Order: sequence, then structure tokens, then C-alpha cells
Amino acid sequence: MVEPLNPFDDIVPTVKADALAYVVLERQNVEIMSRFLEDFGFTKVSHEGPSSFFRGFGDRPYCVELIPSTRDAFLGFGLVAADGGDLDILGAEHGVAPMDNDKPGGGRVLRLVDPNGYQIDLVHGFEPAKAFVPREAINVNNTPWDKPRVNAGVRPPLEPAMVEGVRHIVLQTPFFEETVHWYTKNFGYLASDLLQTQSGIIGLGFFRFDRGDKPADHHALAISFGPAPAILHISTEAIDIDAVGQGQQYLRARGWEHFWGIGRHVLGSQIFDYWKDPAGDEWEHYADGDVMTADCPVGFHALDRAGLWAWGDDLPASMRPPGPAPDGAPPPVRELMDAMLLPPRPWLD
Ligand SMILES: [Fe+2]
Repeated sequence: MVEPLNPFDDIVPTVKADALAYVVLERQNVEIMSRFLEDFGFTKVSHEGPSSFFRGFGDRPYCVELIPSTRDAFLGFGLVAADGGDLDILGAEHGVAPMDNDKPGGGRVLRLVDPNGYQIDLVHGFEPAKAFVPREAINVNNTPWDKPRVNAGVRPPLEPAMVEGVRHIVLQTPFFEETVHWYTKNFGYLASDLLQTQSGIIGLGFFRFDRGDKPADHHALAISFGPAPAILHISTEAIDIDAVGQGQQYLRARGWEHFWGIGRHVLGSQIFDYWKDPAGDEWEHYADGDVMTADCPVGFHALDRAGLWAWGDDLPASMRPPGPAPDGAPPPVRELMDAMLLPPRPWLD
């Protein structure tokens, strides 16, 4: 492996976003998508206008906007600004003025467009929703050495895995370096882990918010090299591991399409479970993910399937390249595709 070097290390950000707020989707069938989101653990928010809005149990006024449309599409996502002035600073750099926000919670919004054509909002001054605790987390575990749970079972209810909110987005792009540069420069994302091929081509990166001494999720954004811009998944945090497990039972009972899991990721360490929504987009439930402060150093890893999950089943076939790179493919593309086709575990062959 080539000596690791973070090529995004010396980018000076214009502002530093603080958190992920929401995703915006167009849907042909809003009713069936709404049913999916409620079974997945979101709650509908009442609001005037054509869009439907859904929240988690955290304090975001909404986490998902569904716009009725003649197509199914991922439009983009919204970020929470650490300071209201950041909208003006970033807006001035792009020649775009912040607007009053007419979505739930109000406040102001600055809308930019990323190198892939996605609408990326920076919001501030919205009225937070009243956060609630849907049930207490199950965090009393018996171990061989310590058994604090006596005369009591673990019996989580069969119900939707209530989610706190949208916690990370994974984008695929043919413009990998340009896209990473754009998000880092505009919003101050920090690289948590970068995955590279044998010759040092970085093809996948996990990025967190720079919140200084305050811990941030291992990644709020992951960017993967790929043939065309696409949303790879939208991730949500559930109450605990048992909610992920019972949430799977609930979604199975409701007839939705399971995709991948349950397993544990390597980078980020989350217990994960992936589902397809009615339009075919992927949604993740997770619990027990890593958090890091701004001073945690970047990690470098070999890019292959084995590096994406510690235990559980292998990636579904549709998450891998469809086959070896075509004859005319440029060497970087060939190398990246070949890396993802390597069998991840000898005992799974
Ligand atoms: Fe994820």
C-alpha cells in the first residue's frame, strides 16, 4: 500500500456545519412511501402544502420531506448551521441569498447545488421540535464477569424501530475528488476513514462534522466513487440494538423488502440493518455507532468488501460491481472495481 496521505487535509472550510437535518425526496406514490416511513420508525408531521413531512424522536422539526411528483428521486439534504451568520458567509461566497424557510420549524435556509446536482441546504433559526423518549434504551447487559440484570428479562416490544432522525447519507459519484472537496470546503467535513486501492487511489471516504471537542458521529456523509451520481443509502439511529432487531421483525411482518443485515460495520462500528423503500432506495437502521471529536486522526484502509462489515452476511450482489471492469475502462476504474470484487472472507467462498 502507498504511504497514506490525506489529500483533503489542507482545505480551509468556509463554515462548519453542525448536524444533519433532513433529506428531500420526490415520490410518485406518496401514500405507500408514507406507510413505509411510519413502519420504519418515523412520525408524520402536520403541515400545510403539497409536501408530506416526517420526524424522528429527536428535536428536528422534520427529517424527511416527500414531494409528490411524476418521478421517484433523491433531491438532496439539509444541514444545521452552527451559527446563523454562517448562511450569510457561505451565501456571499456562492452569490446566493438565504431565504425564509416555509417548511416545518421555519427559520432561514441557504440552498446550494453540489457537483452532482443535489440541492444542499444550510438551515438555522428553526423552532426545534419537542424531543421525546419512545422507550428507555436497553443498556443493562450481563457479561461473564458482571451480571447486573437479575430476575429481569430482555423483552423489547414488537414495534417500529423508532428513529432519532436522519444521521448519515451515502452518495455515489463519478466526480469523487471534486465532490469531497466541495463538501469539505463548504461545510468543514473531516475525513474519519479513507479507503484506498493497492496503488493509493481513494475510492470511498467517511466524513464527520467538525464539532471541536463535542463528539460527532463517525460519519454524517460517506462518498463512494461510482459510475453515476446516486443515493446509496439514508441512515437513521434507533434506540438500541434490540430496536434494530425487533424493527426488522416488524418490517418483515409488514411485507417490506429486506436488503442487508443484521451485522456490524467495521468503520463506524454500527450494528446495521438495511431496507429498501417502495421506490428502491435504501434505508439503514443502526445502533451503537462510534463518535469522534475533531482531533481524532484520519484512518487509512484497504478498499475491499471485507473492510465494510465485521460480522453478518456479505454485501448483497447489487452493492458490488456487476462484474470485472470492461476492457476499455481506465486503470483507476478497473482497480476500484477489482478491489470490490475480492472475496471478503475465505470461509464464505
Ligand atoms: Fe450507513
